[in-house]
Amino acid sequence: MAELAPQLFVIFGATGDLTRRKLMPALYQLVQKHGGSPNGGFHVLGVARSEWSDDDFQREMREALAEHADLSEEDLSEEDLSEEDLDRWCDERLAFHSLQEADGGPALGPLRERIEEIEAERGLPGNRAFYLSLPPTVYAQTVEQLGQAGLSESPGWTRLVVEKPFGRDLESAQQLNDRVHEHFDEEQVYRIDHYLGKDTVRNLLAFRFGNALFESVWNREHVEKVEITVAEADGVGTRAGYYDDAGHVRDMVQNHLTQLLCLVAMEPPAAFEADAIRGEKVKVLRSVRPLDAEDVTLGQYDAGEVGGEQVRAYPDEENVPSDSDTETFAALTLHFDNWRWEGVPFRLRTGKRLPEKRTQIAVHFRCAPVSLFENQSADGAPCDVAPNVLVITLQPDEGFDLHFEVKKPGEAIQLDTQRLSFRYEDAFGPAPDAYETLLRDIMRGDPTLFVHADEVEASWALYTPLLDADLPLKRYPAGTWGPEG
Ligand code: BG6
Repeated sequence: MAELAPQLFVIFGATGDLTRRKLMPALYQLVQKHGGSPNGGFHVLGVARSEWSDDDFQREMREALAEHADLSEEDLSEEDLSEEDLDRWCDERLAFHSLQEADGGPALGPLRERIEEIEAERGLPGNRAFYLSLPPTVYAQTVEQLGQAGLSESPGWTRLVVEKPFGRDLESAQQLNDRVHEHFDEEQVYRIDHYLGKDTVRNLLAFRFGNALFESVWNREHVEKVEITVAEADGVGTRAGYYDDAGHVRDMVQNHLTQLLCLVAMEPPAAFEADAIRGEKVKVLRSVRPLDAEDVTLGQYDAGEVGGEQVRAYPDEENVPSDSDTETFAALTLHFDNWRWEGVPFRLRTGKRLPEKRTQIAVHFRCAPVSLFENQSADGAPCDVAPNVLVITLQPDEGFDLHFEVKKPGEAIQLDTQRLSFRYEDAFGPAPDAYETLLRDIMRGDPTLFVHADEVEASWALYTPLLDADLPLKRYPAGTWGPEG
């Protein structure tokens, strides 16, 4: 990639966890690889209510980098890795602005002045990205204030980056989109779903549209069903405040699983570019049949054992109300009303406190039309032919396994299922971090991996009736694959 355009990357919520764990390490890697010199180069302005100075921010971020950045990457040269260099990097590139309270929220006039000052000092042309790493409840207000302070335009380009969740149902997502569009054009807006930054997820498009072999059987003629699983062994951790209010459908299904669904089910786009790809994803969502209550199972984890450790029931977790009826598991069967997928169920399953962390897509192909081998085994036992399955593992142990039938050695015809396997790491080494990919694309203005306004609304349109319905909640012991059935 060419050098990064000179710019100021403004992070709202800069004292938070996401900035320390994900954003700052990814920015560091990107700037080290493509950043150019600090003068007229790349700068970060952290913004938050805390009364930190530039020095405080630089010190905190230095610690965060030491803890979370991969300082051993091959393409970082030796001299980038010394402590002194880390110090210099933070001192030269990071600044902090403490928000002052005004009526109706923090005033952004002084922020604008600070931005202009830094740009003048550093010889920056006014290219700005505003990253909202904030509680979702203040997105609308912050966008409004950016607009009022005249910060939705600049002498260079201006981009707005919004973390998920974008809204909590169709109506609130529409309202938030309207508010955003009062001040920013859709081309300026980058809605994040970090699954789209994972290399294995991006590879779904390459795999589907770069291999004519699979694309020719990717339809109702040949596919029996598709299963998409996003399992986590972790529980709610320290995020109960947000999660208990959102629930698993909002936290995982509406965004991450739906993105995977779209990439598996979409038609070939007219071109490998943002509008064409995002347009096809919207068509997928619009062709899903409205969900029926019997196609949905919601669950909540009970006490149990995960990875050899006893864990608490969800209502006993820290900061979760003891009578919480929030779902921590969802299984849904989706049906399409379109030519490619009519009659092929797509089963989505995701939950917390399942036996392991695993994200996987299994495409089950139809059985051979005629069973030639049924009566062939020597002892008269039935000789079953298992259908072919393509398993795409997105994490961990990223790769593909194609299950196929072979004849077991010996006189009798006896079939056995074996696998053709490919593992990314063996071929290419570790994959880049999703945030590094996403931040790079924001900086170079490529919206392909970000969620369009139409897409986010089409997705909420699908799940909002489900969120509004009063569906039963089944309990499942932690460490199992969810409620029975
Ligand atoms: C986040 C959810 O978006 O994704 C979390 O809010 C979840 O609840 C996480 O744990 C899973 O991401 P990954 O990349 O670890 O699969």
